[in-house]
Amino acid sequence: MPNLWFETVAIAQLRAKKRLPKSVYGALVAGSERGQTIDDNTAAFTELGFAPHVAGLSAKRDLSTTVMGQEISMPVLISPTGVQAVHPDGEVAVARAAAARGIGMGLSSFASKPVEEVAAANPKTFFQMYWVGTREDMQARMERARKAGAVGIIVTLDWSFSHGRDWGSPTIPDKIDVKTAMRFAPEVLRHPRWLAGFLKAGLPDLSVPNMVDRGQTGPTFFGAYGQWMQSAPPSWEELAWLRQQWDGPFMLKGVMRVDDALRAVDAGVSAISVSNHGGNNLDGTPASIRALPAVAEAVGSQIDVVLDGGIRRGSDVVKAVALGARAVMIGRASLWGLAANGQAGVENVLDILRSGIDSALLGLGRSSIHELSRDDLLIPDGFERRLGIGSSAR
Ligand SMILES: Cc1cc2nc3c(=O)[nH]c(=O)nc-3n(C[C@H](O)[C@H](O)[C@H](O)COP(=O)(O)O)c2cc1C
Repeated sequence: MPNLWFETVAIAQLRAKKRLPKSVYGALVAGSERGQTIDDNTAAFTELGFAPHVAGLSAKRDLSTTVMGQEISMPVLISPTGVQAVHPDGEVAVARAAAARGIGMGLSSFASKPVEEVAAANPKTFFQMYWVGTREDMQARMERARKAGAVGIIVTLDWSFSHGRDWGSPTIPDKIDVKTAMRFAPEVLRHPRWLAGFLKAGLPDLSVPNMVDRGQTGPTFFGAYGQWMQSAPPSWEELAWLRQQWDGPFMLKGVMRVDDALRAVDAGVSAISVSNHGGNNLDGTPASIRALPAVAEAVGSQIDVVLDGGIRRGSDVVKAVALGARAVMIGRASLWGLAANGQAGVENVLDILRSGIDSALLGLGRSSIHELSRDDLLIPDGFERRLGIGSSAR
């Protein structure tokens, strides 16, 4: 039996690359256009340094915090991602891992597992929605999530339907039938361990069960995507309406500008995620960590400001918290872990992050993540991007 434990997220990614069929791996890498944003999301963290102390360090460090009303053991949440064919247990495995490590999880409305199963595995589940279909459709999705026990809503509005990639997009089938299985056989047979997992559990049907009422058959991912493309993007007033439909924590994900953050507060949200969708969107958007400080300064005292994009190690989490984030969300890091070793792989990723956060706190002489500040960081001139300051709000 090979040792499936890994010591860094980078190694989990290498394992995922080896284990997954090329097109599934390519779907996780994602990115858009020339990859400027996806690259900057990780590169920006390498520009930030630390200013450590040498003595008087704290023997005990407290990593726990609260976000969107939930107590979590460290400032990390799982970001919602459409997981699909990475692992047969999909989001349920991720939910179990997150629960085992005391953190919450965002569940994509394009996920492969029903919200009822995921919320049962992790009571700190936030249901993520896009603006798809009619107001009644969206109310019904929220109602289903509420009944399932979801503790909050994440609304993601930053998707810009950018489809080209200079490194080529993977071919993803709409559904898996005999004809498709034959077409993908040469690629899939080269990954026997991944295939064996699915043969035991049943091949993925690539449908999205949370887009319809419980018990109904969900559309395929591409079916739902088509409906999304035909839905006009919402106004700020419509966002405020959606917010009123949910009595509890409500996050707007994808905010990059100060003026948008202020309008989100006006619309009544209780949290935002400073995010560029992991670089999968409008290429040329700067790294989210560069936009974080200005947004956190503007609205951090009123709502929870979360960051996602480019988090690959515990020290990245510490940098984000020092720049004003209440917590971070991780996308690809958890997907690499899931692909590499299922639930245990996601737990492995979370353990790496926890130990990295703890190690950075020790070096910085901090006893709690709440003590972190800009003073702990080396921030090069010109690092920040203060977007939407002084411009007239639309
Ligand atoms: C394969 C993939 C699928 C994603 N699907 C969703 C989704 O369904 N909903 C959503 O709000 N964000 C989605 N995202 C964006 C993530 O929630 C998150 O913003 C991003 O992955 C953070 O960057 P990171 O991967 O560098 O951590 C997806 C990202 C990836 C890589």
